This record gives sequence, C-alpha cells and structure tokens, in this order.
Amino acid sequence: MYPKSFNDSNGDGIGDLKGITEKLDYLQSLGIELIWICPVYCSPFIDQGYDVSDYYHIDPVFGCNEDMYELIHESKKRGIYIVMDLVVNHCSDQHIWFQNAMKDPYGKYGKYFYIREEVNGNAPCNWRSYFGENAWSKLPGHDNLYYLHLFAKQQPDINWENPEVREELYKMIQWWFDKGISGFRIDAAAFIKKTMPFEILPADREDGFCTYEIPPTCNDGLHEYLQEMKKRTFEANDAFTVGEVVSFEEEDLEKYISDDGCMSSIFDFSLYMIGKQGEDFDGFYSHKQPTANEFRDALLRSSRLSFNVGFLSNFIENHDLPRAASHFIPEKDISEISKKMLAGLNLMQYGLPFLYQGQEIGMENLSFSSADEIVDIGSHMEYTLALEKGLCEEEALKKIQEYSRDNTRSPMQWDKTENAGFTKAAPWMRINPNYMKINVAEQEAREDSLLNFYKKLILLRKNPEYKETLVYGKETSFLEKEDNFVGFFRKDKNKKILVMANFQRKGKFFQLPEGEKKVLINNYSEPVNLETNVIQMRGYQLLILDIK
Ligand code: GLC
Ligand code: CA
Repeated sequence: MYPKSFNDSNGDGIGDLKGITEKLDYLQSLGIELIWICPVYCSPFIDQGYDVSDYYHIDPVFGCNEDMYELIHESKKRGIYIVMDLVVNHCSDQHIWFQNAMKDPYGKYGKYFYIREEVNGNAPCNWRSYFGENAWSKLPGHDNLYYLHLFAKQQPDINWENPEVREELYKMIQWWFDKGISGFRIDAAAFIKKTMPFEILPADREDGFCTYEIPPTCNDGLHEYLQEMKKRTFEANDAFTVGEVVSFEEEDLEKYISDDGCMSSIFDFSLYMIGKQGEDFDGFYSHKQPTANEFRDALLRSSRLSFNVGFLSNFIENHDLPRAASHFIPEKDISEISKKMLAGLNLMQYGLPFLYQGQEIGMENLSFSSADEIVDIGSHMEYTLALEKGLCEEEALKKIQEYSRDNTRSPMQWDKTENAGFTKAAPWMRINPNYMKINVAEQEAREDSLLNFYKKLILLRKNPEYKETLVYGKETSFLEKEDNFVGFFRKDKNKKILVMANFQRKGKFFQLPEGEKKVLINNYSEPVNLETNVIQMRGYQLLILDIK
C-alpha cells in the first residue's frame, strides 16, 4: 500500500493512516491477510518517505503514532497483519544522526555514515547514484569531505560496518515489534553492504560514472549482516520479512529464503527484469514491452528456481513500477478480460502473491501532457537523461509515461464523485481521469467485475479443498513451447490444477491433458465445452481447471 495515495481521512489531500483504518473492511472483503505499508515515518519526502528523518515517529501528514497503534489493533481484529517498510540502507539528511555527523564528522556520528576525504580533489570513487548523479556529495561545511548516497543526495547511506549503528537499528526494529507489527519489507536489502575499499569502476556512460551494482557473486559480508539482523530482531518476534532484492545469483537464493535464510521471502523482480539486461539495454528509455513468451519464461523460471528452496513473493505491480495492464498488455488489448488473465497468473503461481493498491480494480498508467506533471524524483532524473540521450521532449515524455513511478502513485479510485472519492480537498497528486469508469464502487456493484474476480481467485487460494496444492504444490509447465501461451500445473499427491492463459488477442485451439475436468475459474462468462480434449480458447482467456 502506498499510504499517501490510498485514502485521505482529514481532507488535506494526502492519504493517511486513519484513511487506511477506514478502509479495513474493504481490504478484508478483498481477502488479503497482510498489508505492507510503504514508509510512514517522519520524512522530508524527497523520495516520498524513503528518506526517514525519525524512525520512531509517524510523519504528521499520515497522522500520529496513536493512529498507527489503532491501525495495528483494528487490523488484528480482522485477521490482517501489518508489515512496515524498513529503510535502513540510508536515512534522510535531516535525521539527527546526519545533522550531528555534519557538525563533527570525525566524532561518533561521523562513523554512522560513509564519510571520506577527497582523493586528488575528487570524490573517493566514480559511483553513480540510482537517481543518476554522483553518488558522493560534499559534506556541507567541510570542503574536503564527501559522503556516500546510493540514492538521492538527501539520502546518506548508513555505515553498516559500524556495530554501534547496527545496534541502534536493531533497537528501533524491536521497538516497532513491541508496538504490535508483524514484520518488515526490507528496502534496498542487498545494498547495506558495500564492496570495500571504494574503488573506481570502469565508466558505463560518457559522464565517467558507473552505476554501483550489487556484485554478482554475493557481496562478501552482506549475509552476515542480514543474518545478524534476523537473529537480533526478526527471529524472536516470529516476524514475516520480505526483502527488496532486485537481482541475485541463483546459488545465493537459499541464503535469502531457505529455512536458514535471512528473510521469509524476497520479491521476485524477474517479470520486470525482462528487457532490462544485456547488450542493447541502455537505460530505462531503451526498455521494450515484454512479450508473452518472455513473461512465461520468467514466470516458470522463478518457480523452478525457488520450489525446493522457499517462497519468492510474486507481484505484477508496486509503487516503483508501471501499472501491470499498461506494461504487459498491448494498448489495444487492455480490457477487463486481459486484466483478469494477469490476475490469475499473479495469484496461481507458486509463491506468495502480493497485490498493489488499485491493481484489484485494474487501474492504468497516467498520461503526461508536460514534464511539469512529473512528481517522482527518479522520473525527473530519467526525463533529463532521455533528453541528454538525444530523445526529443515528446519522446522523452512518452517514455516517462510508460515507466514513471508516478504511474502507480496516483490516488486510489474509490468512486466517481469528485477526486475519485480519495479526498475532499485538492489531491497531492494527479488523479487518473479514467476514475469515472474505473473505480471500486462501480466494481463492487457489478458481479463480473475485475474486483470480484480477484476476490474469487483469493477465495480459491483459501478454499480448504485447494489451498494445500495452491500454496505448496509443485509447478510444472504445460505446453511450454506454445507461443503466446502461459500454462502450468500446480499439483501434489491429492490434486492437479491446470492454469492456462492464451496470452494474445486471437483465439486458438489447444489440446488438453487426459482426465475428468472441472472449471474452477474462467475469465469469460460463456461456459467452456470440456466434452472433447480440444478446447478453443478466446483472446486473453484464462482457465483454471481441476483435473482428476
Ligand atoms: C526502494 C523503494 C523506492 C526508493 C528506493 C530508495 O527501491 O522501493 O521507492 O526510492 O528504495 O529508498
Ligand atoms: Ca490526510
């Protein structure tokens, strides 16, 4: 959940904690069991809360600590766990630690950050931050000193090498457990350990910088830190933890998610890595829309990789990515049918399914008419970069429109009243004009809506007859060589479930496996004929069959 854009309870245009509490019945009716809330700590919001200035207090835009305790309490009553965002790779430059470090860089708090002397008048190395600039900035007030920030310059990286700062973080984590939260989503989890000493890397663009990547062979020492954090905090609290780990080596997966791994799960980014690696990838402006075959390959690969190890967390949307329908489905084919197909794949795959607010009603990307409309710091940087790369303004804006993080951050569309029922005031961010058509109220009232389809899928996952198989059952491919088709079985010794998606506009015939079949889910209202073993699937049709 992206709290700024979920629901505004006090009419200041910004979503808040009471706003979430107000909607708990809605969330319960959807069937979810856990909410990961993006950061709600005190923050100057340079990176929308991922720049924390005080870990112990809720930012006033979201309410106060009591509102958080109330949300935890009310959620618990409805069987919903609350998971907070743990942003400990970096904090805000407004955090008292960094303020003190600036006053006395050689003292106690200087050691809380990576502060280094200049080298021949330059920064210690040539790393580029994730928002495109030098990852080293001059420490204000100290001309010969630099500090490291892998994200914005207002987000200084915390020095995990220092045991004292680790203790401070563990204390804070425990403090939140004592308040009743059930776990954490761990932001930028694989970045907390840097490759030392800081080294100049071969430049990867004309600016002479190199984007710091987590080394392919797992960063020496990273897992010691993650294990220590688990032992000191998560373990004793029986917490659920899910890490943001964008890429990892296959053999390292068990270090993350096996029983002895450092986390309960990590997010599976593979659907979003499509087209972002390899020779012709040259930054976000060179992304291409994933094809159905690429989608299938990524999905099957993840389940193969993780099945004997643990659970990856599956998602098709989050606050850093475009809306799934806009991203995975060709524009002319975006419809409730194709959205339902994506929903089925998201929820039936082996792993822990996460939904992102608004996905359940099929919200779509925003359109941008000018660069002034960009809110996100990362998208501003990307826009500039695209222009530098020689794209004209119109093309650059089109890329932003496709990939901007603003796409999923526009307010939740509750109903067709003014401001989509999200707020009574001017919203902090643009509302997608399609809210008149796409909104919760309309879909709650319509039996065959996407929202009701999500509910059905979630109920199926929880159905005592199918739950074991859908959670623990092995995933094996079906018709893997077939183009524009995603098919897999989920099976165990009691049940065999077949998930089939005709991931294209045109209808096609498919040969079904032997056995007596029952349709559990169909995204078309017309019944399917299972009398013969050849079935005609319509465009973007999704079928979930129980096979005896
Ligand atoms: C994660 C967050 C993203 C944030 C970044 C820096 O990737 O999901 O929103 O900008 O970390 O904290
Ligand atoms: Ca508010």
